[in-house]
Amino acid sequence: MRLKQHVIWGQRGSFILAATGSAVGLGNIWKFPYITGENGGGAFVLMYLLFVATIGIPIMMAEILMGRRARANPIIATQELCEQAGAHKAWSGLGWMGVLAGLMILSFYTVIAGWTLEYSLLAIEGKFTGLDGDASNALFNSLLADSGKVLQWHTVFTLMTIAILALGVTRGLEASVRWMMPLLFLLLFVLLGYAIKEGDFETSLRFMFSFKLEDMSWEGALVAMGHSFFTLSLGMGAIMAYGSYMPSNQSVGSTVLIVATLDTLVALIVGVAIFAFVFATPGISPGAGPGLMFVTLPVAFGNMGVGAIIGTVFFVMVVLAAWTSTISLLEPGVAYLNERFGVSRIIASLLLGFIAWALGLGSVYSFNDWADVQILWGKNFFDSMDFVATNIMLPLGGMLIALFVGWKLRDEIILHDLKFEAAWIFRLWRPVLKYLSPIAVLLFLINGIFPVMRKVFVE
Ligand code: TRP
Repeated sequence: MRLKQHVIWGQRGSFILAATGSAVGLGNIWKFPYITGENGGGAFVLMYLLFVATIGIPIMMAEILMGRRARANPIIATQELCEQAGAHKAWSGLGWMGVLAGLMILSFYTVIAGWTLEYSLLAIEGKFTGLDGDASNALFNSLLADSGKVLQWHTVFTLMTIAILALGVTRGLEASVRWMMPLLFLLLFVLLGYAIKEGDFETSLRFMFSFKLEDMSWEGALVAMGHSFFTLSLGMGAIMAYGSYMPSNQSVGSTVLIVATLDTLVALIVGVAIFAFVFATPGISPGAGPGLMFVTLPVAFGNMGVGAIIGTVFFVMVVLAAWTSTISLLEPGVAYLNERFGVSRIIASLLLGFIAWALGLGSVYSFNDWADVQILWGKNFFDSMDFVATNIMLPLGGMLIALFVGWKLRDEIILHDLKFEAAWIFRLWRPVLKYLSPIAVLLFLINGIFPVMRKVFVE
């Protein structure tokens, strides 16, 4: 049952912008480089690209299709589609798990986004000038040690997210992504140009695009798979929620291809640039962990002629990119409370935002006071939250979405909704959803989780 009717995006192209805004975020700029560095480079990049192509793209189409067909938030959408398809009610657990995963991801995402707020200020104040590797490490560590400041920015970013959600996605989001995305790309090319000129570009390319078979591991594969969901915002209903605002006469396949291509491009450009600086800077290693971007880029900006300006614009861009992503993490839950119970969007955003904020305290203190507290398998709170939500819940959610659309929705329904696609797309996509994607997810989940657990119990 639902109380409210759904709005549709105002302009054509808005879905692409909003979905790209959701996809492109800290996942591309902060996370992709650091997990690539931690997992050995080329082998990891290759697995990530394969997962985006074989699992991410087909599941993104499925998610859009579900949302657009039901024109409702993910919880109600799965419930209604279950009824239409005569499927068991348990399938709608999908929507609930998604809302939970969204809250968990948001909880640590705003902590990292908070660091980017602080770094925007540092850039404006010219604090990067003349920085070397060691000074940059020290600057970053002094932020982490200041838990009060990290908490303050975590709170600010949560409030920023709540503010846009309260305005409503179509009003709050459409306008901002429209000018942000082009500017972000412009800046990335400036950064890339500088990396080619000043960084160790060759070593960077070799690190990211050549691989040895022995670099592959099940755990690395699981992280790569989790990241393919994370970076495309898949598996928890964010894209389903946005799909519910997408006009019916828009082609799903080409839209998804555009979003996935833009998202991957951003990650690869940022990655190549960051590693070019990493290999040119003594004192910084590829495996530096979550601080990689924060210690690497300030050194680059600090030694550029107009680095203060470029650095400021860059970090402000990262803030905006993160902002358009956090919104989508909460949108499914907010839309649910609003459409199901008639709770105003303001109250719903405040409520869910507060839950995520409180959960995020664990991540705020993971980098200082509670650095030694282990929650799961030798991981601190932040790593545990990320591991469970990203590497387990998102793939699981994605697998259920693939199975549901692959097996439960009838061909006529899907053909009707995909009327703008070429027939071969349907013929290729359906079996991928039915067999390839779910089997691959299951295989990598099982093989990826056990080594992580065993490592702890055996050692
Ligand atoms: N994709 C975003 C990024 O790369 C993060 C994100 C936004 C997300 N919405 C999501 C991740 C939904 C998983 C699910 O930064």
